[in-house]
Amino acid sequence: MKKQRKLYLQRKQWRFAEKLWSKLEGTINRVTTSADSLRPYNPLYHLGTLSIYLLIILTITGIYLTIFYRAGSDRAYESVNNISAFWLGSLMRSVHRYAADGLLIIAFLHALKMMLSDRFWGSRWLAWVSGWGMFVISWLIGTMGYWLVWDERAQWLTEYSINLIKGQFAMPFLSPEIASRTFSLFVIVLFLHVFIPITMIVGIIIHVLRLTRVRLWSPRWLMVETGIVLVLLSVWKPVTSALPADFGRVISQVSLDWWYLGFLPLTAQWGNPLFWGIALIVGGIITALPWISPGAHIGPAVVTNPNCTGCALCARECPYNAIEMVSRDDETRFKSLAIINEKLCTACGICVGTCATSGVELAGWHASVLLADLQRALAQARQAGQQPVAIFTCDRHKALGSLDVKWQEEPASDTVIPLLQSPAWQRVQAGVWTGGNPHPVAILSCTVPCAGMLHPDWIRSALNDGAKAALVIACPEDDCAYREGPMWLKGRLARRQRTLPPQVLHYVELAPGSQGEVRRLLKAIGAGKMPEQKPLKLPKKKQVTDWRAVLGQMRYLATGLVVLLVALGISLLAERPSSNPTPQPSLIRIAINHGGKLIAASENLPPEVIAKLPANVDPAQVLGGERFPVRLRLIVDGQQVLEDTYQPRGLRREGAIFGLENWWLTPGTHKVEIWMMDDESEWKQVFADTVTIASQEALILFYDEETNQFILR
Ligand code: HEM
Ligand code: SF4
Ligand code: SF4
Repeated sequence: MKKQRKLYLQRKQWRFAEKLWSKLEGTINRVTTSADSLRPYNPLYHLGTLSIYLLIILTITGIYLTIFYRAGSDRAYESVNNISAFWLGSLMRSVHRYAADGLLIIAFLHALKMMLSDRFWGSRWLAWVSGWGMFVISWLIGTMGYWLVWDERAQWLTEYSINLIKGQFAMPFLSPEIASRTFSLFVIVLFLHVFIPITMIVGIIIHVLRLTRVRLWSPRWLMVETGIVLVLLSVWKPVTSALPADFGRVISQVSLDWWYLGFLPLTAQWGNPLFWGIALIVGGIITALPWISPGAHIGPAVVTNPNCTGCALCARECPYNAIEMVSRDDETRFKSLAIINEKLCTACGICVGTCATSGVELAGWHASVLLADLQRALAQARQAGQQPVAIFTCDRHKALGSLDVKWQEEPASDTVIPLLQSPAWQRVQAGVWTGGNPHPVAILSCTVPCAGMLHPDWIRSALNDGAKAALVIACPEDDCAYREGPMWLKGRLARRQRTLPPQVLHYVELAPGSQGEVRRLLKAIGAGKMPEQKPLKLPKKKQVTDWRAVLGQMRYLATGLVVLLVALGISLLAERPSSNPTPQPSLIRIAINHGGKLIAASENLPPEVIAKLPANVDPAQVLGGERFPVRLRLIVDGQQVLEDTYQPRGLRREGAIFGLENWWLTPGTHKVEIWMMDDESEWKQVFADTVTIASQEALILFYDEETNQFILR
């Protein structure tokens, strides 16, 4: 049976979690909003654009670091230290690092906000899935960055990769003679670290593909504050390297950035299958959330053909590119018609609020029903000698509790106002607001998915039919669940405001769940002191912020800065000493890089070809062919502790043979023997010695093809 999808208001668990988040935002708004401004300096309202800004900072500081960085295991560490030795280099490096941590934190909070405010299903699946894609890519790039420093963290990363891949790429790190070969590996990682970010541009394009008028830039105050916070963190705790990478040492403890490298200690403790299994399952579930927990809406928008005059206002205002104007050639005198793309429509209703001719409505929501309800409810109120306040707001405010109104289903003895809910009303709800006030206020409330759906005619109609005042409660302009609702609504109301007395139309923007401002207004209205609404649209010259205006906002900006400092400062907590649980304190590494003995000799080579070969060339090497596997035995203190077989590489087994073994043991003096069979016939002793090994030391025994022996490095 198909599961019934629920509307935003019915998804109670999600709303419970959203309420907690909104409480946090409301608290921050209280300290970051000045009395004469509707716009709080709240960084949590700009997490998506802040992620882009951090990417830009990473690019700029990254270019600086790339110029001074030197690739190769013999030079990388020193070059990074040299960068840090100069104040500008140290600043660039530290800002780069804190911005990288900041990116993961901010992108995660942005994702969390999208999830809690129900913005992940339906047409938003593309932004949701591409968002997680970018998140994983950001993590991958950062992890590569840690590798480039070539300190103990990079060593741990390398050992982790070696154990995972067991390939030949480990050899150069173990043998100083071929350390120069690491150069190409460093160049590849550097290349990936610098060029994968370019794919982020494609990621961002896909991410915002379904949005109109995308905001890519954070507001200027936020960019300045973020810059200040990154510099403060960098000066306070400049980033340093760990000890240089040295494969002759065992890493037991090193301080790690858990955002990026936390997987190292976790995989060491839990094992790869468990850690990556959990990560894959959790990541998969979160990415698939649009299909696991899809919601429902009361849309899509539907155009009533005869009512559409082709004005294209709806197409202009739709924040999701869901309306296309097509030319029409019918009996009407209008030239074009709005067509809705149902797949892209999020049912915000912004188009409904803008259409002057009721040409567009949401499939499950008809303005005629609302208007009829309002008429009947207000008629009942008039009969009872009441003048209710009509509150128009959005689902978010209703769900998250901005209205502490007692909804009146039944007459109650303690209620002085008998305006009752009628079962016949579908779109209005009757109630009473007391709020500890001696003057209770009768309320009629109408809720729409987004405040941007509100049509000024509905408000006018409520006022004409006897409402004492109309109170419109929207979300902050920077925090609309449908991106642009308050922006369009404010424009519409500002035009209508001129024709109404300033005491009857009130407009507030609030974090959903914050009740203070609504209470203040209702208290004043209840007491008969009708407050006046300031003009919603200021004349152009008053909007210009000069330096005095900015200074006047300093207090609110400063609290925003503290919020940002806390958010980005979390990265300091992520840097923690982490231990690498090893079976024993000391280690023997056995590394073999063997050309391999040919199984078939060069019998088929014609004698005349052999004759032409230079004297020092082995015909077998010219001809090539399948090689024998190599078998190794490790004997420690007279006990065989390890035996393994290493196969030649390549499909035809013609390639060289690589092997790498780690054997953990107690510190002290040990008798070590290695035996090898590389021709499937005879075991040869290739190492025998008494070695003394200290705690945290790793002895490297490397196979030398010339002497046919293992050599202690
Ligand atoms: C890594 C970096 C990320 C960047 C740079 C980024 C940036 C942005 C930007 C600029 C917007 C458009 C804002 C607007 O104009 O309204 C946006 C929207 C969105 N982002 Fe992200 N984002 C990132 C990660 C994520 C993640 C991890 C998720 C969740 C999985 C996510 C989910 C969304 C969704 C669902 C929207 C659409 C909102 C809507 O339709 O109303 N983003 N993002
Ligand atoms: S706003 Fe109304 S009249 Fe104008 S194009 Fe859209 S549906 Fe048609
Ligand atoms: S309801 Fe919203 S998303 Fe759908 S067409 Fe109208 S404005 Fe666009």
